[in-house]
Amino acid sequence: MTHRARRWAVVLAAGRGERFGAGVPKQYRRLLGRTVLEWSLGALLAERRIDAVLVALAPGDRRWARLEYAEDPRVMTCEGGTKREHSLRAALDALQGRADDRDWIVVHDAARPCLRAEDLARLLNQVGGDPVGGLLAVPLSDTLKRADRNGRSRGTVGRESLWRALTPQMFRYGVLRRGLALCVDRERAVTDVESAVECLGLRPLLVRGRTDNIKITHAEDLAIADALLRAGRPRR
Ligand code: C5P
Repeated sequence: MTHRARRWAVVLAAGRGERFGAGVPKQYRRLLGRTVLEWSLGALLAERRIDAVLVALAPGDRRWARLEYAEDPRVMTCEGGTKREHSLRAALDALQGRADDRDWIVVHDAARPCLRAEDLARLLNQVGGDPVGGLLAVPLSDTLKRADRNGRSRGTVGRESLWRALTPQMFRYGVLRRGLALCVDRERAVTDVESAVECLGLRPLLVRGRTDNIKITHAEDLAIADALLRAGRPRR
């Protein structure tokens, strides 16, 4: 019997957002009446090809239970860790016994609420037939400067062939687990899924994404996300 690879989305929502400032964590800040996390989850659940979503939450998170998605049968949760990569590992561990090595894992940051349906569809279409996996990314458009210790520019860094990694990032379950295990053995930091896969000597596919798939990092990013979501909303 042939195996139909399932697609599991993993939403990383366990951050405390140190750069964002005190108060409500950024994934629970509101944008047009919904939390940032609900926008990110909604974008994934709107894609029919996603079979289920696992959300990694901070230990002791009491806000999740108040969201409607907490009752959605396609959505599960697990406890995340102290760093993003620990939350990813915890999510992969939580899928053990449920996910097959050939299943796809679509990892998305809760802090990216402006993911468009067409970007997610392009990722699934292009990576679905790829032996390694891949991620949404954008070629760099700004000139890069290398700073000295006094905050002065000491030269321009060539931007040819440099891309910014976005999420979602999509890899086979077995490949991700092997990559993460190898990185831990080699004591290499894994801030992104694709660096774990690169640990195996594989080259993930860069799928051109939209520049407005921003990550909310600083408090002022909320206003930008608000404007982007407003602009992308279907008109009545
Ligand atoms: O902090 P940063 O913006 O890089 O976090 C990116 C995403 O990773 C966020 O959605 C955040 O909630 C998540 N994260 C996590 N566990 C952590 C740290 C960050 O799930 N310990």
